[in-house]
Amino acid sequence: MKIIRTANYEDMSQKAAQLMIDKIRQQPDMTLGLATGSTPKGVYAELIKDHNKNGTSYKKITTINLDEYIGLTPSDHNSYRHFMNSELFDHLDILAENTHLPNGAAEDMFKECERYEQLIKDLVDIDLQLLGIGRNGHIGFNEPGTSFKSRTHVVDLAESTRKANARFFNFIEDVPAQAITMGIASILDSREIILLASGSAKAEAIKQLIYGETNEKFPASALKLHPNVTIIADEEALSLV
Ligand code: GLP
Repeated sequence: MKIIRTANYEDMSQKAAQLMIDKIRQQPDMTLGLATGSTPKGVYAELIKDHNKNGTSYKKITTINLDEYIGLTPSDHNSYRHFMNSELFDHLDILAENTHLPNGAAEDMFKECERYEQLIKDLVDIDLQLLGIGRNGHIGFNEPGTSFKSRTHVVDLAESTRKANARFFNFIEDVPAQAITMGIASILDSREIILLASGSAKAEAIKQLIYGETNEKFPASALKLHPNVTIIADEEALSLV
């Protein structure tokens, strides 16, 4: 794993965005795997800035997101679909039909997992997957204990994850108990992975990722089995490394 140390959140966002922009310019029809959460927001703002200033085009880009809450419709303000539209897609020239997220309101979740996994296969390869990391080492919504062989599946969210994400909701009771997420094997199929981390709340997780054992108790450790992973993290997130 390559580590890029940045001064702060802004610097992390700019460096990650620049890496992505360079690749998009080289390969304008690439497939990007995208993430939600607070961490990638700055990267998305930088991509929008660059699109407006330098005209980087997303007309031929396909995106596929890691996960979605179960029980929220795409128009729900707390859904990841809403997050992606408002934080990124609505501000680019990307075609709506080329942006993919699991449907958390699907009637049959088993079929939805199959549909999504098939989509990942049909899109051939995710060229570049962007990831954040949960404090307990989750990637996407793959909580501790998830098999490294997992494909798109339904998960029960850990109480700590619901608490950590409660800040986006009015009440903790409103945070869904389940989500649909790409599996760890689906994530590892990506050609290249960038993991972002910012702030002291992520320092323990980053320390464990770098120095800890590779096992299913700590989902992000699966990334050590991948040949092309870059961690872009700020001083605070790297303070224990
Ligand atoms: C959620 C998302 C993850 C994300 C994590 C960290 O649980 N499903 O993809 O990496 O939160 O979020 P944040 O960046 O807000 O700390």
